[in-house]
Amino acid sequence: MSFVTYECKGAYGIITMNRPEALNALDSSVLDDLSSALDEVDLDTVRCLIITGAGEKSFVAGADIKEMAGLSKAEGAAFGKKGNDIFRRIETLPIPVIAAVNGFALGGGCELSMSCDFRICSDNAVFGQPEVGLGITPGFGGTQRLARLIGMGYAKQMIYTARNIKADEALRIGLVNQVVPQADLMATAEKLAAGIAKNAPIAVRQCKKAINEGLDLDMDKAIELEETLFGECFETHDQVEGMTAFMEKRKEKNFTNN
Ligand code: CAA
Repeated sequence: MSFVTYECKGAYGIITMNRPEALNALDSSVLDDLSSALDEVDLDTVRCLIITGAGEKSFVAGADIKEMAGLSKAEGAAFGKKGNDIFRRIETLPIPVIAAVNGFALGGGCELSMSCDFRICSDNAVFGQPEVGLGITPGFGGTQRLARLIGMGYAKQMIYTARNIKADEALRIGLVNQVVPQADLMATAEKLAAGIAKNAPIAVRQCKKAINEGLDLDMDKAIELEETLFGECFETHDQVEGMTAFMEKRKEKNFTNN
């Protein structure tokens, strides 16, 4: 039985972390299952992905503390690499990934949400990096992505104090884009995914690449990257279709990812 399920809903897909007895905590099996779920996503047809947690209490309550408790230094590093490799795969997936955070997003859970393109959450969501209280550092990208997302000052405060924050504070500091009642979370995420899926997939993918890769470059190089990716959109079916539809005052567009 898998701890992670994948459901394809036409132009978008939903990955659900499903280990409710441990609040969807990430042990090695869950990480393997997450990797397998990603393998299932057909990147030729699926245009946006949502990652959420099963139940109404937890997105992911972190890496599995019971599994980590007895690890050696080498095993700890290998476990960090296992999580990092999968989260980096999510971050660099060609299509956008939305985290629909439905409760606790602690440690590895906050880190999983940060490997997604953006986050929306339910009003009961709780974010935090509690690792220093357990005698470790964040290990699935938290020291790197949190500072890039919310700035160094807030990131250091959250990580050094190990203090959890509620949805309203996460919204205020820019960790999430939107807070909605729990009952509306998936409908909101699916509406966002469907809206993204309506746009030219080639262009959306090029935007993800431009933003992700451009942030690591100086502005001159970043602008060059944008020029290249912008240029590559031309002569594609989707560029011709998008601009022809505008000129014909036509709302319906037949984007094909070609
Ligand atoms: N690892 C393993 N098991 C976990 C877990 C985790 N991260 N989080 C919750 N569980 C388990 C609990 O042990 C419990 O199992 P048992 O019934 O067998 O005891 C079950 O899930 C339900 O949890 P609680 O009874 O604790 O539920 P609660 O509502 O009282 O508390 C909570 C919820 C505040 C999230 C609490 O479970 C908690 O603090 N969990 C740990 C959060 C945490 O520290 N996460 C960071 C882990 S370190 C990390 O992630 C490192 C990294 O960067 C890679």
